[in-house]
Amino acid sequence: MNIKLVDKKISDIDSEILVEFLTKDELPNHKKAKILQNAGFKAEQDTTCFLYEKATLFCGIESKKSDDVRSAASCMIKMLKSSNYKSAKMSVIGKSTLSALVEGIVLGGYEFNEYKSEPKKAALEEISFAIDDFELGELETIFNEALIIANATCYTRDIVNRAPQEINPQTLAHAAQTLAYDNSLLCNILQEDDLAKENMNAMLAVGRASVHGSALVHLAYKPANPKKVVTLVGKGLTYDSGGLSLKAPTSMVTMKMDKAGACAVLGIIKAVSELKLDIEVHAFIGAVENMVGGNAYKPDDILVSRSKTTIEVRNTDAEGRLVLADMLDYAQEKVDADYIFDFATLTGACMIALGQYTTGLMGHSHKLKHDISRAGGDSGEMISSLPFNRHLKKLLKSEIADISNTASKPYGGAITAGLFLDKFIKDENKNKWMHFDIAGTAYTESPWDCNVYGATGAGVRLMCAFLREAK
Ligand code: BES
Ligand code: ZN
Ligand code: ZN
Repeated sequence: MNIKLVDKKISDIDSEILVEFLTKDELPNHKKAKILQNAGFKAEQDTTCFLYEKATLFCGIESKKSDDVRSAASCMIKMLKSSNYKSAKMSVIGKSTLSALVEGIVLGGYEFNEYKSEPKKAALEEISFAIDDFELGELETIFNEALIIANATCYTRDIVNRAPQEINPQTLAHAAQTLAYDNSLLCNILQEDDLAKENMNAMLAVGRASVHGSALVHLAYKPANPKKVVTLVGKGLTYDSGGLSLKAPTSMVTMKMDKAGACAVLGIIKAVSELKLDIEVHAFIGAVENMVGGNAYKPDDILVSRSKTTIEVRNTDAEGRLVLADMLDYAQEKVDADYIFDFATLTGACMIALGQYTTGLMGHSHKLKHDISRAGGDSGEMISSLPFNRHLKKLLKSEIADISNTASKPYGGAITAGLFLDKFIKDENKNKWMHFDIAGTAYTESPWDCNVYGATGAGVRLMCAFLREAK
């Protein structure tokens, strides 16, 4: 489907269907108010009314704010895709909401049909945005950049949605390599023998029972005079069975999405390189599969991590933090960054604490939390801070090693996981680091907002919003 910005008034565009967004306040004064009222249309948010004879689709909208526009655009595109019309036109609602309109259409209209033998093909081929009274120049950049970010989000979704027999640590590394080639990024891949030389024993332990070798991927985007240097680290568990602390059957379903942190990091570096931002970005992904077998790592094992911190394994299902411990240590040594952000589907507890719609944000710097929240405000992704405290930190104490991989009490599990990662952040980097727990937000089995069934691409829009503002 092609979406284009047209330097014309809406009435001068030739399309099969006209789309109009209407608020409750606008409805009574609309020239088709009577017919719409008879049809039972009240212009409520996320409702639609198709007047086929008038070739017009009306979409209810609470207000003309970004969140409402994005959600209404998602409903609109689903409705259009279920029809047999080939083309539709609409006015850009406003300059400040054009990005949300594009995101709603691209992300709400996203479908992952890779494994369907007969995928339904929508008839819709083209959507035209009439610029009406705006200047083309003032909308073009916003439009193009919104498309880059939405498409990068779909790229992330596509990898997360792929089945675990297809995406394993090696094929995930290969996907990263392809991205590096396509977008002219630097790429370095460490295989298991390299990881052993790097003493990344915590990460290696997690992947030991897998038939697929673990891999570390480092991609870099280096513009000439970067304003900032940013390190991104992603949890790339291509499957999390729980290991010997095996997950219950129902909890194991969807665990192909445990690679969503790594895929988000790939989507972010893709977007940043296409937006040509003046920010140097380093993307590190830890690609590992957590399986069972005779050589699996065990509860009671003591792991000597890359940083020499010893870890008592009490639960092999708390594997993401072990991978990230070594990844964060490696990334901090390789790059002297202004910001270090990790993205991980780390804990079910984060979902319990915040619900499925909000990403958990953890770290030491109140200023950085505030800056990320402000920049991400209109991105369509919700984040909330989960605060560290010294009492929760004590729950990670081990009687036999430097730290335990599970807290002694279950409450505050998202925060204790964040505090485990903190143990591997060097003192000089404490205020540069932020941990994003996307366990709830990365994947959904019931559509919400512009998120359809499956992977959401959580992290991509949020980080792009922050990095575009980073000075
Ligand atoms: N990958 C899971 C976390 C997860 C759960 C992500 C549900 C998405 C949805 C993680 O590796 C895990 O299993 N965490 C455990 C930690 C516990 C053993 C301390 C959890 O959350 O139960
Ligand atoms: Zn796990
Ligand atoms: Zn996991």
